[in-house]
Amino acid sequence: MAKTDRSSGRTVYVCQQCGREELKWLGRCPGCNEWNTFVEQKVTAPARSPRAASPLTRPQELSQIAIEAADRFPIPLSEFNRVLGGGLVPGSLILTGGDPGIGKSTLLLQVSALVAGSHGRVVYVSGEETQHQIKLRAERLGIKGDNLYLLAETDLEAILEQVEELSPGMVVIDSIQAVYLPEVDTAPGSITQVRECTMRLMNWAKLGAVPVFIVGHVTKDGSIAGPRLLEHIVDAVLYLEGESFSSYRLLRCVKNRFGSTNEIGIFEMKGKGLVEVDNPSRAFLSQRYGEAVGSTVVPVLEGSRPLLVEIQALTNPTSFGQPRRTANGVDFNRLLLVTAVLTRRLGLKLGNQDVMVNAAGGIKIGEPAADLGIALAITSSSRDVAVDPELTVVGEVGLSGELRAVSQPDRRVSEAARLGFKRCLVPEAGSGGLSGDIEIISASTLREAIRVGLVNKKVN
Ligand SMILES: Nc1ncnc2c1ncn2[C@@H]1O[C@H](COP(=O)(O)OP(=O)(O)OP(=O)(O)O)[C@@H](O)[C@H]1O
Ligand SMILES: [Mg+2]
Ligand SMILES: [Zn+2]
Repeated sequence: MAKTDRSSGRTVYVCQQCGREELKWLGRCPGCNEWNTFVEQKVTAPARSPRAASPLTRPQELSQIAIEAADRFPIPLSEFNRVLGGGLVPGSLILTGGDPGIGKSTLLLQVSALVAGSHGRVVYVSGEETQHQIKLRAERLGIKGDNLYLLAETDLEAILEQVEELSPGMVVIDSIQAVYLPEVDTAPGSITQVRECTMRLMNWAKLGAVPVFIVGHVTKDGSIAGPRLLEHIVDAVLYLEGESFSSYRLLRCVKNRFGSTNEIGIFEMKGKGLVEVDNPSRAFLSQRYGEAVGSTVVPVLEGSRPLLVEIQALTNPTSFGQPRRTANGVDFNRLLLVTAVLTRRLGLKLGNQDVMVNAAGGIKIGEPAADLGIALAITSSSRDVAVDPELTVVGEVGLSGELRAVSQPDRRVSEAARLGFKRCLVPEAGSGGLSGDIEIISASTLREAIRVGLVNKKVN
């Protein structure tokens, strides 16, 4: 595509959703299949960054490149370090996304204060709020703010000029959609602006070896607004998630060039800001009461951390039309699979029942290891018989009704024991050698497991 021709005043059409460029306007983008996303733009050469002729830009022999592993510095917020893979890497560009109002600014302001206290100057740039507004938030969070500088500005050139003078140890840009480069002639928040600003920040971060956080707003479909592309440019992508009805916030890493992406950080939103949750399993189970129908507790793994999560199910006769299946926090396809197996292999009559399944606390479980918990909760609700309240269950359900092994059963069992459960029901496959302060019950089929799990053991 002729993109170089700057003087001719030519235009291209750029999809505001995925960044695809076309020579003519199209109603539907071939890249992302969105409608009406093309906007006419002047052809501009990509903004060039003043790149010093540093040895970085010349090829270097791999064996000659020094490793600066010690560079990663932990910040005094362990849930945050966990998600980043141990700490902040200088020169890394980290995108933090999340729904409106979820707490992105709160989290980054808290992190800024901690880094300012332990590591050096931090500049917090806000294109969305005034210094006064941020000051009010800081007061509420109990942040005094020595070494923490606020800048309310949206011109990225001006921002970087100001920031350089302070030679900070960390920079926050809140948000990438609010800032703009004057030489790129599209509106702030447009895909070209967002991309060029991100690339400029990336270069700047790398040259000065300064970690830079950028906040990105999330669109309805869960991608960082406009450019999915952004996720490719940056070094790490963090998402702050949570349900509006719950005060828990999960910080999830979906991309990390410097570490694992499996870990999640768990916080609770309080008046004083986001507070680390020390004992997440206990927190997630705190609202559970005794012997409840349709409720099971499953030890799931989030990264390296086992977490006990309550799964609830409700079955209810369908009032009209097709029976409905609703999954909240559990995988919808796993729910369909489990209901199909319950119907075909155990003869549970779900064909005229709506089935709702919910993972309590706003957590999202992706693991098939929760299958057995889902199955037991549904059966319990359908038969109106409670599940053994001192039991936790884990196992993947296969299509013929068999129970399949799960990864790292030992960690799950010990978390269940730690929280005072008396029994843990596991798949027979892989159960050898499991022990602990808890009774291990193994089962090889779903039918067997359900017989064990329900308090009233009259199943088939
Ligand atoms: N006084 C308060 N007490 C408790 N929680 C509060 C209080 N004030 C604000 N909050 C919480 O902080 C949230 C807003 O946080 P924040 O502004 O950091 O979110 P954000 O993700 O940056 O939002 P935006 O998308 O608007 O930038 C509110 O939704 C609320 O949950
Ligand atoms: Mg904000
Ligand atoms: Zn597109």
